[in-house]
Amino acid sequence: MRVNHCGEICAQALYQGQALASRHASVGDALREAADEEVEHLAWTERRLEELGGRKSLLNPLWYAGALSMGILAGRLGDKWSLGFLAETERQVEAHLDGHLSKIPARDQRSWEMLEQMKVDEAKHARTAVRLGAAELPAPAKAAMKLAARVMTRTAYYL
Ligand SMILES: [Fe+2]
Ligand SMILES: [Fe+2]
Repeated sequence: MRVNHCGEICAQALYQGQALASRHASVGDALREAADEEVEHLAWTERRLEELGGRKSLLNPLWYAGALSMGILAGRLGDKWSLGFLAETERQVEAHLDGHLSKIPARDQRSWEMLEQMKVDEAKHARTAVRLGAAELPAPAKAAMKLAARVMTRTAYYL
């Protein structure tokens, strides 16, 4: 749950950064809307983490700053790449959530329902990005994003 919480910190920071650097109003609105839902996810994961007696990642401020910068950078590349980045992020998040859902004990119904709802929202964010003209990212960019996500998830698992 700490990893999910850290992921939502990154997601809101990315989309806030992308919204700041977006060109068209419709893209900025969609990014802000997605960022707001990530803030909601953040609140859910934070509450669940508390209920489970866990603690937040110590590196969250660092991840927030890094993700915000990356979001601004993605936004500067132009709307279609920024939206492409969002769509790919959400696809990777969905895959991560699927992996996590398969590991959650059946008795943890609350976490299960929460992650299922997050998955629905993330898929919606990806669809919105595609509808607004997301470009398909080149394979090396996707691979770099997977690597960054792996560093984040592994680090947050322990720290
Ligand atoms: Fe989310
Ligand atoms: Fe999302």
